[in-house]
Amino acid sequence: MANSARDIKKMKGREKIICLTAYDYSTAALLDDCGVHLLLVGDSLGMTMLGYSNTLPVTLDDMLHHTVAVSRAVSNALVVADMPFMSFQISDEEALRNAGRFIKEAGAGAVKIEGGALRHSTVKRLVANGIPVLGHIGLTPQSLREMGGYRVQGRVPREAEALLADAAALEDAGVFAIVLECIPPSLAADITAQVAVPTIGIGAGPQCDGQILVTHDMLGMSGKVAPRFVKRYADLDGIMRKAVADYTSEVQGGQFPAEAHCYN
Ligand code: KIV
Repeated sequence: MANSARDIKKMKGREKIICLTAYDYSTAALLDDCGVHLLLVGDSLGMTMLGYSNTLPVTLDDMLHHTVAVSRAVSNALVVADMPFMSFQISDEEALRNAGRFIKEAGAGAVKIEGGALRHSTVKRLVANGIPVLGHIGLTPQSLREMGGYRVQGRVPREAEALLADAAALEDAGVFAIVLECIPPSLAADITAQVAVPTIGIGAGPQCDGQILVTHDMLGMSGKVAPRFVKRYADLDGIMRKAVADYTSEVQGGQFPAEAHCYN
């Protein structure tokens, strides 16, 4: 049986929650097999898979398409689908209708919604209708236009207080966990101590109950400079470039295909 949102919630204080993004079948199968607890089909796929410069153009259909593929691959992790920009903001009814599609048509176990206190009624509505919700506060990339760029949140007392209030509001609305993105570690520690649900950090220091990274970033799958909070655990970009260069030179030099690759 795959992890449920309740299983993830119960991990607070017991075991660090390991989370990564996945957007396709084969990567999701590998990450699931490695024991990752939660796989997020993040709207970051707008950049990593679709080539956009931010997450704003990602559609509900894009997200459904990738979530179905990930769900097919996974037998252990909780699959969480990110609700894209403008799929939950207009009304709670529309949010419920769209979130329902991720559960019913795409096989997700939960959805993620960006925003804090402002999302209280939306989260409450979804949870009351059997849809587990992962909150997301701090740097919320769908608010890029309003924030005027990607920057660390909660550095000044007014912002820090607002984020503590956001976390409390999300907990009250019934989220099973909260992503904290790009906030100072001390504030993340305060939020983690304040709420009874797990916090999942990304650029929020070591005191969170779990951590998440974009898989493409942590595996070094692109040559682009990653944000400071990313640790590159591999250089897949370099490995793939070398493999393609070797293939090119062997095809051109006549070494591939060899006898072993032929049907004689
Ligand atoms: O879209 C995404 O990948 C995310 C994570 C970075 C938390 O929201």
